[in-house]
Amino acid sequence: MSDEALSNLLREDRLFPPPPEFAARANAKGSMYDEASADRLGFWAEQAHHLHWDAPFTEVLDWSNAPFAKWFVGGKLNVAYNCVDRHVESGHGSQVALRFEGEPGDRRDVTYNELMNDVCKAANALIELGVKGGDRVAIYMPMIPEAIVAMLACARIGAPHSVVFAGFSAEALRSRIEDAQATLVITADGQNRRGSVMPLKPAVDEAVDASPSVQRVLVVRRTGNEVPWHDRDVWWHDIVDRQSSSHTPEAFDSEHPLFILYTSGTTGKPKGILHTSGGYLTQASFTHRSVFDLKPDSDIYWCTADIGWVTGHSYIVYGPLANRVTQVVYEGTPDTPAKDRFWDIIERHRVTIFYTAPTAIRTFMKWGDELPGKHDLTSLRLLGSVGEPINPEAWIWYRDTIGGGHCPIVDTWWQTETGAIMISPLPGVTACKPGSAMRPLPGIGAAVVNDAGTPLGNGNGGYLVLTEPWPSMLRGIWGDDQRYIDTYWSRWPQYYFAGDGAKLDEDGAIWVLGRVDDVMNVSGHRISTTEVESALVSHPKVAEAAVVGASDEMTGQGIVAFVILRGGVDDGEGLAKEFRAHVAKEIGPIAKPRQILIVQELPKTRSGKIMRRLLRDVAENRNLGDVTTLADPTVMNLIAGGMSTAQPED
Ligand code: WTA
Repeated sequence: MSDEALSNLLREDRLFPPPPEFAARANAKGSMYDEASADRLGFWAEQAHHLHWDAPFTEVLDWSNAPFAKWFVGGKLNVAYNCVDRHVESGHGSQVALRFEGEPGDRRDVTYNELMNDVCKAANALIELGVKGGDRVAIYMPMIPEAIVAMLACARIGAPHSVVFAGFSAEALRSRIEDAQATLVITADGQNRRGSVMPLKPAVDEAVDASPSVQRVLVVRRTGNEVPWHDRDVWWHDIVDRQSSSHTPEAFDSEHPLFILYTSGTTGKPKGILHTSGGYLTQASFTHRSVFDLKPDSDIYWCTADIGWVTGHSYIVYGPLANRVTQVVYEGTPDTPAKDRFWDIIERHRVTIFYTAPTAIRTFMKWGDELPGKHDLTSLRLLGSVGEPINPEAWIWYRDTIGGGHCPIVDTWWQTETGAIMISPLPGVTACKPGSAMRPLPGIGAAVVNDAGTPLGNGNGGYLVLTEPWPSMLRGIWGDDQRYIDTYWSRWPQYYFAGDGAKLDEDGAIWVLGRVDDVMNVSGHRISTTEVESALVSHPKVAEAAVVGASDEMTGQGIVAFVILRGGVDDGEGLAKEFRAHVAKEIGPIAKPRQILIVQELPKTRSGKIMRRLLRDVAENRNLGDVTTLADPTVMNLIAGGMSTAQPED
């Protein structure tokens, strides 16, 4: 083998250039790459000038204290003003900002005028509750307009928010409150999930009882269920509604903390990823404008993420609103009241830009083509994907079945830490290969390196690194500078190490191969789980697959595959054999799974990422490790039960 750190196995020759009509009208043209490479910092300064600055910046980047960056030094701005007020001031107050749709079917449109009033009132309420600039506010809320208002109100008064996904436990909430020393928690009585009311307040009470830093709890009435009540609690409608709707936004330093967002690390302790104001908003809005090609006067945008994840922060709240979006906000699950809810939403709202995750796409493939087929999806003009590698067959399905064969797909690679999209096609420029995020955006530097940190040439696999600081980069881990350096900047001190494996194909397109912790070692070949999974998903009977390496006396590790069949396919004899042969054909005999197990569900985190660690436990017949972060802990019992029937190949 060459000095590559990861084998480069799968080949993909299909190429989808942008439709000419799309390219002609695209916000981002190919010349942007040249402009950015001629003057990278000048390019970012130009993007920053799309925002309103109360005081101009005097320096684009200060990297003298690397890896702690300062962007747009000396500049002052108010993030909430940029996302709301300035659109009202430019005459767009009656444009709808949020088209909210609750799971039970209730609807509410919020114009920019209304959003401005709501944010001002909420900001005044936070001030009355004693929140000052710099104080941390925890937000534990369903996907309702008040959640977005709460985030913007915090931004408006300079109080960094820490949004905690409302599906997390009381203990997860408590540990995040404690780490950030939050003084206020904003929550709701409950949320609608799968047709029933899921209370939120009890978890908040349990967390806050054990959190001495918290002084008050602000509660939105959403579901109307009975809630336990304490002296520290105050109803949103009691305090927010009576506030003045005028509030003068304060200009904050470009590096003022905007939010902390916790993400899991390799150790148990969650990492509080810190983002600041000017650089973050610059890159979030730039990427939203150029990657999603937003036309504020005509597009209806829908990102299906939850505000509990970074995608909700950057591509529901900050990027889109800074660009004067009109967007759908949906509270519930895709299968309520029926499994075509998303297609129904797209049809009724005439959604033009749709951004979702591969895990959702594969689930929709499993549910079958008839569901989207029942709906008119012709309003769509652009599709996006984020969160995991998208398997080429899932990409093709997305393009054909959802996009009607005419929508460009942007496969966007980024992380909580990067704050905004880093590697992605530009939809009017890039000829896309299904499954590849293609190349770094203008102004972004990325490379694939080997163990020694040497950049690899085309045709090789290794580790994905970022070679230049970028505006929306994390500014550190809350309260733990050393952990920031150790985690991201120590393996190769000159690079940010993302933790992902990747390969460069013959044309230099980047293929992200998943977390390097997931790499398998079969007879000395380091094989990415993603490639074997993609090979399996390219079989017409397979909807989704998860692959792990289990210890093997002969080969070091053997490949064990967990496979979900497409809708309508029977779990018949001989399927495992058929799939093995298929992988051998697609990749080579080295990648043939030792065992294949047909399952109904896969263990996933609440943000939809497959938890291969648990599947490894099953494959190696170990007791299961920590299952508390699983979206549905019961799936592991089913999978473990089936393992005994998965016979090794003879
Ligand atoms: C993975 C989500 C392949 C990757 C925005 C990354 C992807 C991690 C892609 C970050 C993609 C995200 N192709 N892999 N398009 N997008 N990932 O912090 O492993 O929840 O490191 O941020 O998701 O996940 P996070």
